[in-house]
Amino acid sequence: MRTTISVIKCDVGSNVGHHVVPEPLVNVAEISLDRAQKSGQINNYFVFNAGDDLELLMVHEKGEGNKEIHALAWDIFQNAAGKAKDLKLYGAGQDLLKTAFSGNIRGMGPGVAEMEIEERRSDPIIVFAADKTSAGSFNYPLFRMFGDPMSTAGLVIDKSMFGGFKFEILDSKENTKVILNCPAELHEIIALLGTSTRYTVSRVWRAEDNLVCAVTSTTKLSLIAGKYVGKDDPVAIVRAQHGLPAVGEILVPFLHTYFVEGWMRGSHWGPLMPVSLKDSKCTVFDGPPRLVAIGFQVCNGGISLGTMGKPLIADMFDDPAFDMARRESVEMTSVFRRMGEFEPARLSAEGMEYTTLPQIIEKLKGRFKPA
Ligand code: F6R
Ligand code: MG
Ligand code: MG
Repeated sequence: MRTTISVIKCDVGSNVGHHVVPEPLVNVAEISLDRAQKSGQINNYFVFNAGDDLELLMVHEKGEGNKEIHALAWDIFQNAAGKAKDLKLYGAGQDLLKTAFSGNIRGMGPGVAEMEIEERRSDPIIVFAADKTSAGSFNYPLFRMFGDPMSTAGLVIDKSMFGGFKFEILDSKENTKVILNCPAELHEIIALLGTSTRYTVSRVWRAEDNLVCAVTSTTKLSLIAGKYVGKDDPVAIVRAQHGLPAVGEILVPFLHTYFVEGWMRGSHWGPLMPVSLKDSKCTVFDGPPRLVAIGFQVCNGGISLGTMGKPLIADMFDDPAFDMARRESVEMTSVFRRMGEFEPARLSAEGMEYTTLPQIIEKLKGRFKPA
């Protein structure tokens, strides 16, 4: 049976500042998705937030890029943005960059990650959602999960992974993509993915049978809007177990923090903090950038359900095992903030091109004289 997991997200407004999606906006999404489930449009859903981003997880049988599913998400974001305007919440409708919906939500502002799968006997899925960062921030952990035999034991011990994995890598500058084989092209993969501000992993397959294992959203808001409109807070869907990285191999890259682009005004390097859903909110210097992970089992076109009919959702970072990463993230925050607005705390000149800094340089232009 072919089942589709769609995660579509959007910053539609936040309480207070760019801090967190408040309950009235979550409600708008839940009421609509409940209706969509009852009418058979989708089979199951889960609404959550990554900081100020409203995240819609929908499981259905309509395939990737389906017009009805995208329209459903688009309408929810429109309505939630309307609610945010009424309540005078901050940044109401922030990521809704276009007005006329023409069948696909891609390129209109919201972020999209979708994976159509042939359901295996049992299919564990982890969905990652981050706030105050960008798509490239999944390069490092995805490489660790599918390419690093010192991190994923299965690459060494499980013969069904011996054929390795294929990485689809997007060049956001040239708008091109390439598929590289791991481990055969390990060094080339690291060469590209290390430049996480430009290249992003968009898809991963198991090499021997092309089984899809991971997908990410790769939106560049600044390229759609032509100016800085916030970072492209990304989502990723990762498939686990039985010849793929185990859930624990998918989570172990987050034992330590690592640096990602984004944070305050989308202009700084910040230490990513893995948090539970209850701590999915940005505070210090509008951060530090946060990451949540929810897990579930796919079941006959939907999500395995609990006794009350609610989807069984696991909050993966709600665990003291990630306390060290959280503490490191606070320590690194303190180190970097001591640097203020000096590189490398702030992004390099190229990264700042898409922020509001060029306006400041423009203002000083006439005052520069030949040296
Ligand atoms: C980063 C982000 C925030 C804002 C900052 C200024 O992605 O959303 O750090 O950039 O709070 O926001 P404005 O310009 O809306 O006052
Ligand atoms: Mg915002
Ligand atoms: Mg955000």
